[in-house]
Amino acid sequence: MALDALLGRCRAWKHKHLLGTRDLSREEILLVLSLAEELPGLKDELPLRGRRLFNFFVEPSTRTKTSFSLAARRLGADVVDFSPATSSLTKGESLKDTARTIESMGVAFTAIRHGASGAPAFLSRLVGSSVINAGDGANEHPTQALLDLLTMKERLGKLSGLRVALVGDIAHSRVARSNLWALRKLGNEVTLVGPSTLVPAHLGAPVSHDLDRALREHDVVMMLRLQLERQQAGLFPSVPEYVRFFGLTRERLASLRNGTIIMHPGPMNRGLEISAEAADSDRSVILNQVANGVWIRAAVLLLLSQVGA
Ligand code: CP
Repeated sequence: MALDALLGRCRAWKHKHLLGTRDLSREEILLVLSLAEELPGLKDELPLRGRRLFNFFVEPSTRTKTSFSLAARRLGADVVDFSPATSSLTKGESLKDTARTIESMGVAFTAIRHGASGAPAFLSRLVGSSVINAGDGANEHPTQALLDLLTMKERLGKLSGLRVALVGDIAHSRVARSNLWALRKLGNEVTLVGPSTLVPAHLGAPVSHDLDRALREHDVVMMLRLQLERQQAGLFPSVPEYVRFFGLTRERLASLRNGTIIMHPGPMNRGLEISAEAADSDRSVILNQVANGVWIRAAVLLLLSQVGA
């Protein structure tokens, strides 16, 4: 598709910031996905030439940060990277002053990852650039859910009527929340599977504590990382106990229904929530998820660039 036609379709998008899938309509989600499917066909045009992305990652990241950089550069934008450990955050500079300092050098987009839920929303009220939530606490990780949807569509051929099991540490998972909001808007059934200490009841989705049954009944099994760094209160008795009841082990891999796909947002704890055999099996679409992240993030940058253009 020609660039002009793609930009024309961006006019339906009205959000200056992308803070969560909770804020998006079904049509807006489908718009992001369709642009992400078409952007690889863009020839040599650079629609974001002269714009700059600030990768404001205060928490670690491999996939999200790298794919934002690749997406921005693919569309012609420059990227400003940020290292919290060597920044003036260590001298007590605030989030607001850090963002506004970098922004004063000319920034169109700020992709922020932060341990505090709500940090991107807070920042969006203080800066002039378009703020993208690249993961905030246990709140949301919208671009992850969008790339997950794109991967489901690629592999299963549809985006509604799917039965999706989100498995594991739901309590600490922003990926689970963004997927739950987005999947339900598109008409999918979502089940939260895990120990009762890690599956909050207030999310309003059906809960199961029986992984073996879930594996037999779902089209998508999304294993979530056990966030050991966020666990202070012993929320499960021991790692072997967790694996026994909620790990996607080699034995459980054999019990998957035909056609069921295995997803994981990464990084994985191999041998804990997912076995090496499951992660590397032909049911696994984990690396497809990563590859799709570049195009989802490119689509988001393009859409945000057109607001008020
Ligand atoms: N899925 C995800 O957010 O991975 P990173 O922490 O590596 O960005």
